This record gives sequence, structure tokens and C-alpha cells, in this order.
Amino acid sequence: MELGGKHVVVTGAAGGIGMALIERFHAEGSRVAACDMAIGAAEELVARLNALRPNSATAITADVSNEVGNRTLIAAAEASLGPIDLFFANAGVALGTGLETSEEDWHTAFNVNVHAHRWAAKYLLPEWLARGDGYFCSTASAAGLLSQIGSAPYSLTKHAAVAFAEWLSITHGDAGVKVSCLCPQGVNTAMLRAGDDPGAGPGSSVVRSAGRVLEPDEVAEAVIAGIQSEQFLILPHPEVLTYLQRKTGDYDRWLAGMRKLQARMINTQ
Ligand SMILES: NC(=O)c1ccc[n+]([C@@H]2O[C@H](COP(=O)([O-])OP(=O)(O)OC[C@H]3O[C@@H](n4cnc5c(N)ncnc54)[C@H](O)[C@@H]3O)[C@@H](O)[C@H]2O)c1
Repeated sequence: MELGGKHVVVTGAAGGIGMALIERFHAEGSRVAACDMAIGAAEELVARLNALRPNSATAITADVSNEVGNRTLIAAAEASLGPIDLFFANAGVALGTGLETSEEDWHTAFNVNVHAHRWAAKYLLPEWLARGDGYFCSTASAAGLLSQIGSAPYSLTKHAAVAFAEWLSITHGDAGVKVSCLCPQGVNTAMLRAGDDPGAGPGSSVVRSAGRVLEPDEVAEAVIAGIQSEQFLILPHPEVLTYLQRKTGDYDRWLAGMRKLQARMINTQ
């Protein structure tokens, strides 16, 4: 898919990967809607993008953790941009640790990391199926293909996000709905940095030890290439594919290796 002149919506766009995506889609010639629950920092970016190309960017405040928030967001984006060509469900939360995680955090993790994707798709698909065209991208994580040491909610919800993207592609791909799923390892954003806090568990140090921590604009670069080639799995860290192949090639060996890595991380904390 070529992005020039396309109408693109990105959630979780007030910082990190989402903000870099907005900037990059705009540079490709798209008209963009930057959405977040506290749009704050994105308003400055939108003003800068509109100064470059008038009426090319908008900021929408929306909470995607519930169905109404997604429906309202899509209606607002269509009112501002016109029909949506590409929707990027990127908003995410890294909440919880093990079985002691509160029920509230489990609900929020599933609502934002998984249900938001299906609620958005529910309101996008009727129009996309009618015109036989549309592109749904989601940000899952390498944790959705492998696992997240230290966080059950993150591991489960990101696997579910990958599973939903696969299902969407299988079910509606032949009707013209394109799907990509972004699965990075470490990216230098507020989310990764928050995991460095003492008491946050081993999650961020495991991610940092697993490979290079990319800058958000490097991830956006990989996304553009993935969308242009309409590739399902977008892996800004290519080694994730090797890890995935090792996992599926010998599950028990992979699990033993993950337990060893976890023990090493806990001992060095
Ligand atoms: N940073 C990493 O190392 C990393 C690695 C793999 C995947 N990811 C995923 O990338 C995505 C973007 O995260 P990031 O790293 O840029 O972190 P980030 O914290 O900078 O961005 C996440 C954004 O989502 C928004 N958000 C959270 N809940 C929301 C809600 N209910 N409604 C609307 N917006 C909401 C936040 O306000 C924030 O701006 C997430 O899905 C995250 O899980 C991050």
C-alpha cells in the first residue's frame, strides 16, 4: 500500500511509537489523526504538521479502553479526515506482574491491549468490506510471539493481540482487508523507561538484555516498509523471527532457556 493521500488514524499517539508513526505517515503524504486519552504532546506535533501542509493533521482525545470510546473515535476521525484507509491500534499498557496482579489491572490490560483492537475493527469493517479495501495494523510486541518474563498480563494480552490480527487477516483478507502486526522488542519510550523503576520487576532489564533498544523513529521506518510490502509480521528487531523459530522448533528447550534467563535476571537485580 502506498501512503500518499491516505487517511490514517493512530492510537496512543501522544508519545513513543505512536507519535513517531504519525510523523512518519505524514512525511509519506498521508492525512493523519493522532489519538490518545491525554492528547497533550500530540497537539504540538499536529500544529507543526498543519504548518507544513494545511489541514493534514488532527488530534483526537479518546479512551480506547471501552467500546464507546472506539466508536466515538472512529466517527470523529471520519468526520475530520473522511473515510479511514489505515487504522493503527497502537495504544498499549504494561501493567501487572504475576498472579498477585489486581483484577482492575487485568481488566485494563485486556481492554486496551486486546479488546480495543476488536472494538475498532467492529466499527471499521462494515465500510471496508463495502469498498473491498482497508488496512488494520496493531502494535502487539515480541512478547506476543515469545513471552514477557515478569508479566503475565503483558504476555497474555500481547499473544491475544497477535491472535486477533491473525484471525482478522484469515477471515477478511480475501475481501480486501489488509492486516499487519507490529512486534518489536525494546523501544526507547516512556513505557520501557517506567519499567526501570526499582520495584517494577525484571521486565525492562530482560527487554534491554534481549537486543538493541530502538528509537521510535527506527520502528516507524520498519512499519512503513512493512505496510508498503503488505507484510503481516513487522519485526523491527529481525532476530525475533529466529527466536520464534527456535520456540516452535523445540518448545521444551525454549522454555528451559527462558527459565534460565529469568533466573539470571532475578539474580542480577
Ligand atoms: N516500548 C517498548 O519497548 C515496546 C515494545 C513492544 C511493544 N510495545 C508496544 O508499543 C505500543 C506503544 O507503546 P510505547 O512504547 O510507545 O509507550 P508509550 O507509553 O509512550 O505509549 C503508549 C500510549 O498509549 C496511550 N494509551 C494508554 N491507554 C490508552 C487508552 N485507554 N486510550 C487511549 N490511549 C491510551 C498512552 O497515553 C500512551 O501515549 C504499546 O502497545 C506497547 O505495548 C512497546
